[in-house]
Amino acid sequence: MANEQQFKLRTRIIATRGVQEYRSTIAELVTRHDIVLELGCEWGSTTRLLAQHCDEVIGTDVSPKCIERARQSHPALRFEVLDAFDVRAALDLGRPFTKVYLDLSGLSSYRALLDVIALASMYATVLRPDTIVVKSGALKHFAAHCTAWPVKQAPQVAHELEMNGV
Ligand SMILES: C[S@@+](CC[C@H](N)C(=O)[O-])C[C@H]1O[C@@H](n2cnc3c(N)ncnc32)[C@H](O)[C@@H]1O
Repeated sequence: MANEQQFKLRTRIIATRGVQEYRSTIAELVTRHDIVLELGCEWGSTTRLLAQHCDEVIGTDVSPKCIERARQSHPALRFEVLDAFDVRAALDLGRPFTKVYLDLSGLSSYRALLDVIALASMYATVLRPDTIVVKSGALKHFAAHCTAWPVKQAPQVAHELEMNGV
């Protein structure tokens, strides 16, 4: 069962709806020193935009055909075949990614919500980027209706902390 110790992730997860919103985050969030991983890059259009804002980006896709076309269209950029569900393969890329962009076909529906959450949590835990941007209308809708209930300290604990000058 989940507990307070488990989810001390430092990664913020940003949910966007549609490709325009997904790409509009780049200018706001990505800076020169970021090392960015895009999962589901297709022909590399967003990877190219990311490359305009940071020194290093790798575009990845499960489809070898997409990667072949991305490499032909953007020969100066790095593209690799990678199944986003194989986080070990992403780790084997060997880069300290600071931002992950996630745009897999089929992940926008409500049916796929658990997959999206599992994927984002997995990347947050294993790669520890500061930010994960997800293109998923379902996640955005769900997140907009969530509020984390604040943890209140028990009076006895608060008293002990105060006595110890914490
Ligand atoms: C909507 S397209 C991505 C468009 C691209 N991000 C852009 O902004 O131009 C979705 C891509 O997800 C890829 N995809 C689907 N399942 C995947 C998986 N498990 N791992 C990696 N890529 C996947 C598909 O091959 C497809 O190219």
